[in-house]
Amino acid sequence: MVGLTLPPLRSARGSVCLPGSKSISNRMLLLAALAQGATEIRKLLDSDDTRVMLAALEKLGIDVSASSGGNCRVEGCGGTFPVKDAELFMGNAGTAIRPLTAALALSGGHYRLSGVARMHERPIGDLVDGLLQIGADVRYTGNPGFPPLAIHPANLKLDAPIRLRGDVSSQFLTALLMALPLTGAAAVIEMTTELISKPYIEITLNLMARFGVEVRREAWQRFSIAAGQRYRSPGVLDVEGDASAASYFLAAGAIGGGPVRVEGVGSNSIQGDVRFAEALRTMGARIEWGEQHIEARAPESGRLNAFDLDLNHIPDAAMTLAVAALFADGRCVLRNIASWRVKETDRIAAMATELRKLGATVEEGADFLAVTPPATISPGVAIDTYDDHRMAMCFSLAALGGVPLTINDPQCVNKTFPDYFDALAEITAPVIAIDGPSASGKGTVAERVAKAMGYHYLDSGSLYRLTALASIRSGVALNDEAGVAGLAAGLPASFEGGCILLAGDDVTDAIRSEEVSAGASKVAALPAVRAALLARQRAYRRFPGLVADGRDMASVVFPAAAAKVFLTASAEARAERRHKQLIVKGMPANMHALLQDLQERDARDAQRSVAPLRHCEDADLVDTTRLDIEAAVAAVMTIVKRQGL
Ligand code: DC
Repeated sequence: MVGLTLPPLRSARGSVCLPGSKSISNRMLLLAALAQGATEIRKLLDSDDTRVMLAALEKLGIDVSASSGGNCRVEGCGGTFPVKDAELFMGNAGTAIRPLTAALALSGGHYRLSGVARMHERPIGDLVDGLLQIGADVRYTGNPGFPPLAIHPANLKLDAPIRLRGDVSSQFLTALLMALPLTGAAAVIEMTTELISKPYIEITLNLMARFGVEVRREAWQRFSIAAGQRYRSPGVLDVEGDASAASYFLAAGAIGGGPVRVEGVGSNSIQGDVRFAEALRTMGARIEWGEQHIEARAPESGRLNAFDLDLNHIPDAAMTLAVAALFADGRCVLRNIASWRVKETDRIAAMATELRKLGATVEEGADFLAVTPPATISPGVAIDTYDDHRMAMCFSLAALGGVPLTINDPQCVNKTFPDYFDALAEITAPVIAIDGPSASGKGTVAERVAKAMGYHYLDSGSLYRLTALASIRSGVALNDEAGVAGLAAGLPASFEGGCILLAGDDVTDAIRSEEVSAGASKVAALPAVRAALLARQRAYRRFPGLVADGRDMASVVFPAAAAKVFLTASAEARAERRHKQLIVKGMPANMHALLQDLQERDARDAQRSVAPLRHCEDADLVDTTRLDIEAAVAAVMTIVKRQGL
């Protein structure tokens, strides 16, 4: 079992672009497949669960192709699936097997659906009961009430309302609603129990409407579909960011100071899980809503409030609250969450077991969980994830207690969010920012500190140098701000085994030439160029941490860096160092010219209007005029250790 060890995390700040919503992606894929006409789906989630759906649709004869920019084009079959006999493997994707079971039961073919072992323990009986009422031929080939299933053609009759339970999973209702228009007949579903997770039904109704099918809803009790409605492609559709995934980052902002902004969901969202932000607000977090973003910060007091909440409307995001409870000021109660028991794992049991490992006192009931946080979170714990993506993602937040933590089998996040840990690192991984003027030795020092810490290393100056070289090579004038910024935004650069490559060409030495050095300092003064390189620099922030050197690491790129160092030396000492380097390389060197050149570059770097080189107030000064490299590294390491890294 391979675990991912997270370092102690002390703060969270920044912004995260969310992947597409799983719930929306899989519904859109199925509706697009059943519709008349082609649908272009933009920002489709690429994860295990969507791949399961895509693979099934392709096996059923639906033509799905990748179109530009990671978008996907689905040629709808305008009714029932072309392939009439198929064996489908559904992994552990509830959002795939349930709606497909219903659609296939009404498709007049022979189909077998199975999944991983856990899928065969997840109930589907209520949906099958609903389908049997209209004459569908659906059989259990394993245990009654659970997949695997076999489906055969049948004579359907929709003369009476379908009576359906809604208290185990709302996906059974979603599945029937999406499938029934295939019959062309009028259909009515009546709930025989309370319906759980209602906001997911709203997503279903909203998306069906976009494909031209209206459902009449009477309270949450009765759903009617008029005869003769057919799915028609709306043309192009955008998938919203995943609101359940947003919960991890919003909670990180609430626990780790913030602000943390999630991009891709906001006040216009059709996903119920955005209401997680309201629950966080109940805990005292400061929340700000935009149409396309949500931002969270810690309470002014710094401490989150305990809560007692009915969370039936946000079952997935509620798991994040259970972990946030570790940081609350008292006993937290999560109520009405019985559906957790039949998800990827028994989430109530799993949550209780793992929270206890961290020192919490946990009471567990059939449909509730009560969490009393420990005085301090136990360090060095290994969290088991039960092949449940949400267990891995929400427990990663416990590291914000400033304790190291191991997440076992972290790849389970691939189910819905393959890049989760990189995204988390972008807002939480510790950063050591080392700024200073040219030839202050910061590059060598930063690299050695990175090695000593086992951290990643970013030489931000090389990005400006690469931009200058790319401009020179492609004939773009160095003062053509838009032109240079365009090159910077798409810089085909990579760092491999100590070499710096530009479009596959080794330019390690070329970017150090005097011409490129002077050019770098010119392009670095252009605001659009700096903006174009910002996200790229921030993406270097990875676990277990990053050492970044440059001019504005502490002030602009990583303002929340855990340790900030301003490394400098007198201009004379720096000119002398460069002189020695050139002589060693057998290159011509003139002390006077070098000094003048350095002073000019210092002036340009310090006087430009954007991100000028300056010693931030919160950065520790290290003057290396009289220090050799070893002594400079030791001075920086002392500062780093003082910050508890
Ligand atoms: O650190 P260096 O000498 O490789 O940097 C090359 C140029 O890029 C230098 O003139 C300053 C500029 N630069 C910058 O403006 N901001 C950074 N973060 C890094 C470098």
